Amino acid sequence: MRQYANIVGWGAAVPRRVVTNSELEKMVDTSDEWIRSRTGISERRIAGPGETTSSLALQAGKQALAVAGLPASDLDIIIVATMTPDYPMPSAAAIVQHGLGASRAGAFDLNAACSGFVYALAVGSQLIVSGMSVNVLVIGADTISNVIDWTDRNTCVLFGDGAGAVLLQATDQPGGLLSCVLGTDGAGVDALIIPAGGSRNPASVETVTNRQHYVKMNGNEVYRFAVNAISRSMAQAIERAGLSSDEIDLFIPHQANIRIIQSAAKALNFPHEKVFTNVERYGNTSSASIPIALCEAIEQGRVRAGDNLAFVGFGAGLTWAASVVRWTVDPAAAARVNGRIAAEGVIA
Ligand code: UT7
Repeated sequence: MRQYANIVGWGAAVPRRVVTNSELEKMVDTSDEWIRSRTGISERRIAGPGETTSSLALQAGKQALAVAGLPASDLDIIIVATMTPDYPMPSAAAIVQHGLGASRAGAFDLNAACSGFVYALAVGSQLIVSGMSVNVLVIGADTISNVIDWTDRNTCVLFGDGAGAVLLQATDQPGGLLSCVLGTDGAGVDALIIPAGGSRNPASVETVTNRQHYVKMNGNEVYRFAVNAISRSMAQAIERAGLSSDEIDLFIPHQANIRIIQSAAKALNFPHEKVFTNVERYGNTSSASIPIALCEAIEQGRVRAGDNLAFVGFGAGLTWAASVVRWTVDPAAAARVNGRIAAEGVIA
């Protein structure tokens, strides 16, 4: 029996439009200096006309299939982790399934906010390990720019749009997800919330007038929660994988704030060179941040066959999710097989 779910393909997509901190200075009472020093962010990508959660997810998913050389018709399941689907119903995953021509695949969305990619990785891996599926496409995609209040300086400077994907495949070669820790503290629901547009406060003229369809956040509360939750859950995941911190080759955390990443890295004893960050160029892309970072790490030659990778996410819920993944493929060889991706780079 094939008992492992290895990552055999990957891809990422971000909108073309770059929004710099100085552009935000013209929109709200903020400064490049404040944003850089408090968050580490210099610029982010913001979706333009025709760029949606599913269109970015589709691009990322196509690349993941191309890297693996797998036809879409061989996909069994597509999971899109998102909290900003194109529509409340149907799922973004259904749109991706059609766009890929993945005629045999079941498709669904999963919402664990910014922790969504690691949650989806756990679900996808288990579908394979249980014997139910052979090829599972896991995508993290969000266009938070659509639910951000562009007059609220507390939130609008933090986020960006994007998508990242991995293709999981059943194999008898040991590797893939070694451990996973998933958690939620629903007492923190109000700390990060879009209050209207769901069943509690359905959309109405009043909810729109009161700007309740936008993200509301208690930044300090989320910050304190994040530092604690990610270091604790990541340590547990490393232990459950039977490893120690120094056996982790690359730490790829959710890219929300450089200070949160640095605090967690310090608590986990990861030296600077083992920590991957790109929050500076993309901001917080929610469930897309870890797979986008993974793709950039691969492009930079920082991921090799046999490496142990540590992923950790946190977000609204409040949720957290940590996992350790053993990487099994040679990324350079995969890129050579598909020259187009090697030439263009994963992120156009
Ligand atoms: O995926 C999960 C998503 N959420 C997060 O990751 C958020 C986690 N939290 C954070 O990253 C940080 O708490 C923030 C970046 C949001 C805020 O940084 P901070 O160092 O915790 O600042 P603060 O909230 O203590 O605010 C300090 C000051 C306040 O002014 P007063 O009350 O001291 O006069 C804010 O009003 O900074 C002000 N402020 C700003 N100033 C300029 C808040 N946002 C801005 C801004 N520009 N954009």
